[in-house]
Formats: sequence, C-alpha cells, structure tokens
Amino acid sequence: MVADVKKRVLITAGASGIGLAMAKAFAEEGASVWVTDLDQDALGQLDPSWRSSKADASSESDMAALFQELKQEWGGLDVLCANAGIAGPTALIEDMPLDGWRQCVAVNLEGAFLAAKFSAPLMKAQRSGCMIFTSSTAGLYGYPNRSPYSAAKWGIIGLMKTVAMELGPFGVRANAICPGSVEGPRMERVLAKEAALKGTTRDAIYEGYASGTSMRTFVEARDVAAMAQFLAGEGGRYVSGQAIAVDGHTENPDPKV
Ligand SMILES: NC(=O)c1ccc[n+]([C@@H]2O[C@H](COP(=O)([O-])OP(=O)(O)OC[C@H]3O[C@@H](n4cnc5c(N)ncnc54)[C@H](O)[C@@H]3O)[C@@H](O)[C@H]2O)c1
Repeated sequence: MVADVKKRVLITAGASGIGLAMAKAFAEEGASVWVTDLDQDALGQLDPSWRSSKADASSESDMAALFQELKQEWGGLDVLCANAGIAGPTALIEDMPLDGWRQCVAVNLEGAFLAAKFSAPLMKAQRSGCMIFTSSTAGLYGYPNRSPYSAAKWGIIGLMKTVAMELGPFGVRANAICPGSVEGPRMERVLAKEAALKGTTRDAIYEGYASGTSMRTFVEARDVAAMAQFLAGEGGRYVSGQAIAVDGHTENPDPKV
C-alpha cells in the first residue's frame, strides 16, 4: 500500500453493529469505505460519502457481482473485514433444526469463505492486503445451545489460518477477531432467547455472561473496531494467522445461569 493513497476497506454486514463501528473508525482515519449489507433501509442511512451495496454475504452471485464492481471502481483492496454473521437457533443439539444450522453456517462460515475467495486475487496481485474475520469467543470455546454458531466461528479460525499460510508469501495477512458479548440489540436478542429457554430473566443471563469474564464485562462495538484498526495498521504489519479475543478475558465460557 502506498502511504499517500487512501486505504480501501470493504466491510461485509457493515450497516449496523460491529461492522458499522468498523466503517466509522476506518472512515475517521481517512480510509475509503465500502459497506455491504442485506438491509437496504440501513444502507440508505449510511454516510453518503461511503460506497455501499446490497449483497447477501452467503450468496456467491451477490459477492461475485460486488467484487466485479469493486475491482472496476477501486482496482484493488487493502483491508477486508469479513464480518457477516447471524446468531442462528438457540437449542440443544438434539433439538437443533437442520435448516437453522445450515443458514447459520452459510452466513458465518461460507460468507467468510466467499469474501476471502474474492479478495485473494486482488490482494495477491498487489502483493499486500489484510483480511480481518469476525469470529467470536464462541470460536475459542464451546457454546451450549448454540452449536451451529460455535462450529461456524471455529471454522472461521481454520479458514483464517489457512488463508494466512497461502497468502503470506504474497505479503497478505489474515487474522480473526473474537469479540466477547457486545452491548447492543443483537446481544439483547440472544439474552431474551436464552432467558426464555432457561426460564429465567434477561438480567440473570446478562450477569452470567459478564461474570464469566475476568473483567466482569461486556465489550462495545468500538472496542472491536479499534482492534481491526490496529490489525490493519502499522502496528499489525507482522501480525498474521492470529485469533485475538476482545472480551475482557473469558474465564468461564459457560457460567451455568
Ligand atoms: N454482538 C455480539 O455480541 C457478537 C459477539 C461476537 C461476535 N459477533 C459477530 O460480529 C459480527 C457482527 O455482529 P453484530 O453484533 O454487529 O450483528 P448485528 O445483528 O448488529 O448485524 C449486523 C448486520 O448484519 C447484516 N446481515 C445479516 N445477515 C446478512 C447477510 N447474509 N449478508 C449481509 N449482511 C447481513 C444485518 O442486516 C445487520 O445490518 C457477526 O459475525 C457476529 O457473529 C457478535
């Protein structure tokens, strides 16, 4: 990447939550930002100076069309934030519906795969680039009642490590960020579902999650975005193949609420 040229950053599922925090952080440091999402209304509310496209991260045709347009407009890509992910069903393994499993794995893992697959030729050709995958602490531990999500987030780590090995000789890096519980509407939905499943309150589940960390905390989307900026910046230039938690240090991933 040439120092006086703007960093070109693509963020999948960037119209809300963690992806939006990443887009804002990169835009604030002067990067050119391109956000994709499924939610057309949310895309319409983004900063008009950003590029945005409606694209399903798990659709090969949507992602192929996106990268064709991106290549035409930008000619290359410096930072990929493969961030798309859905929570999937909350159920014990014996009750887990196959269609819910497949949908969760498709968005989380196949979405990360497609983003990496289409970014690789661009980054390889320019002999630089940085891929950042949003995994989860669910990709470092088991996660009772969330088997497809945990399996997909572990899968992302294997994908990331392989990509780091394939592309490292071309000066391209790959890392995964593993956020703990992030304050916001998505975790509120998770807390509500789990409280219903366990017959307890949202607050009890919240306390359970927080108490499983050394710092007794949730994190914020901006903490995850700051790690993405570090990985894409000068400090991260020899950091590759790593799964880095931003979670206040998970001590007990299943605090049995
Ligand atoms: N929120 C947390 O506590 C938490 C913790 C660890 C990891 N994560 C991961 O972080 C990433 C972002 O999570 P978030 O909390 O910001 O999520 P979110 O629920 O706020 O959703 C972010 C966006 O994803 C979009 N989206 C959903 N399916 C899509 C698809 N198929 N293609 C394109 N866009 C799609 C939604 O429209 C939404 O705008 C996910 O991969 C998630 O698994 C979240």
